[in-house]
Amino acid sequence: MPENLLEEIAGQIETLKSRFHSQLKLVKDLGQLKELEASVLSKKGTIAQLNRHLGALDPEERRTAGALINQARTELQAEFEQSLSQLMKKWREEELAVEKIDLSEIISDSNFFAGRMHLITRTRQELEDVFVGMGFTVEEGPEVESDWYNFEALNIPPYHPARAGQDSFYLRYREPESMLLRTHTSPVQIRVMQSRQPPIYAVMPGRVFRRDTADARHTPAFHQIEGLVVDKGITFGHLAGTIETFTQAIFGPNIVSRLRPAFFPFTEPSAEFEITCTICEGGGCRTCSQTGWIELGGCGMVDPNVFNAVGLDPEEWSGFAFGFGIDRLAQMRHSISDMRVLLDNDVRFLRQF
Ligand code: PHE
Repeated sequence: MPENLLEEIAGQIETLKSRFHSQLKLVKDLGQLKELEASVLSKKGTIAQLNRHLGALDPEERRTAGALINQARTELQAEFEQSLSQLMKKWREEELAVEKIDLSEIISDSNFFAGRMHLITRTRQELEDVFVGMGFTVEEGPEVESDWYNFEALNIPPYHPARAGQDSFYLRYREPESMLLRTHTSPVQIRVMQSRQPPIYAVMPGRVFRRDTADARHTPAFHQIEGLVVDKGITFGHLAGTIETFTQAIFGPNIVSRLRPAFFPFTEPSAEFEITCTICEGGGCRTCSQTGWIELGGCGMVDPNVFNAVGLDPEEWSGFAFGFGIDRLAQMRHSISDMRVLLDNDVRFLRQF
C-alpha cells in the first residue's frame, strides 16, 4: 500500500507542522526554543525520522515524499529562525527597560533654589583671575584703618578735603578721628609695601565706605580693587598697557581705555582712566553724556612721598598704582540702572547673574 504510505507521510508532515506551530507559541525562553529545534529539526528530530519510511516507497514516490519532507524542513527552519530573532529582540528590549538608569536631575521641590554668588563677588573673582593671569598676586587689608594708613602715608596731608568728616565714617575709638572705615583700598598698598620687598605686582580688592547718600550711582558701602606695581624701571607706558589689557579682558575687544590727566595725592603724574561707553560702544548716549567714554577709576605713578613713607628709595624703585570700583564696573558691564539693587538682596535681581 505504497499509495497510502505517501499519503500518510504527507499527513504526518501536516501534523508535525501544526504541532511545531503551537509549541513555538508556548516557548518562554531561549532554552525551550533550542529544545524544540533539536526535537524537530535536528538529525534525530521528528522530520529526519520521516526519512525512515522512504525505503518502502518506489523511486517515483520516494522523490515526491523526499521533496515534501525537505520542503517542510525548510519551512519550519525559516519559522524557527524568525521566532528566534523576534524573541531575541523582545528579550533585549526587556533587558534594556530593566537596566535603564534615569540620569535627568529631578528637583522634587519646585521651590528649591540652590543660590549662587552675588554679582559683586563674581565680578571681583573675575577681576582677580584676569590679574592673576597677568602675574599679579591678590592681597587684602583691614576694613578699619588708622588715619595714617588711609591718609597720611598716602601723602594726604591733614588739611586735605578728602579727610573731611563728611566723607569718612570715623570710629569712636582712641583719639577722635584717628580710626575710620577705610575710604578706599589704597591703604593696602602701604601694608603690602611694608610687608615685603619689591618687586611687587599685586591687586587688592575689598570693601570701602564713604558717607555718601545712596542714589543710582552711589552706595555708602561699595567695593574697589587696587593695583600696585613696584619694580625697577617702571614707566607710565606699563601703567597704560596694564589698564588696556585688563579692560579688554573684562569687556571684550570692542571696549578700549584712555587716560586723562587728573590729580591724586599719592600718585604723580596722575590720571583718570576711562573706557568706551558700554551702552553705546562709543557712539555717544545719555549715560556717557554724548562723549562715548565713561570714567572707571584713578591711576598714576607712585608718588616719591609714598615710597618715603614706607622706607623705599624713590631713586631705586618706581611703580604705578590704580584703583576703581568693582560695583561700578559691574553696573556698566550689565547696564544696571540703579546701583542700590546690589544691596537690596532681592533674589529676582540676583538670580539673573
Ligand atoms: N584711591 C583712589 C580713589 O579711591 C583711586 C586711585 C587708586 C587713584 C590708585 C590712583 C591710584 O579714588
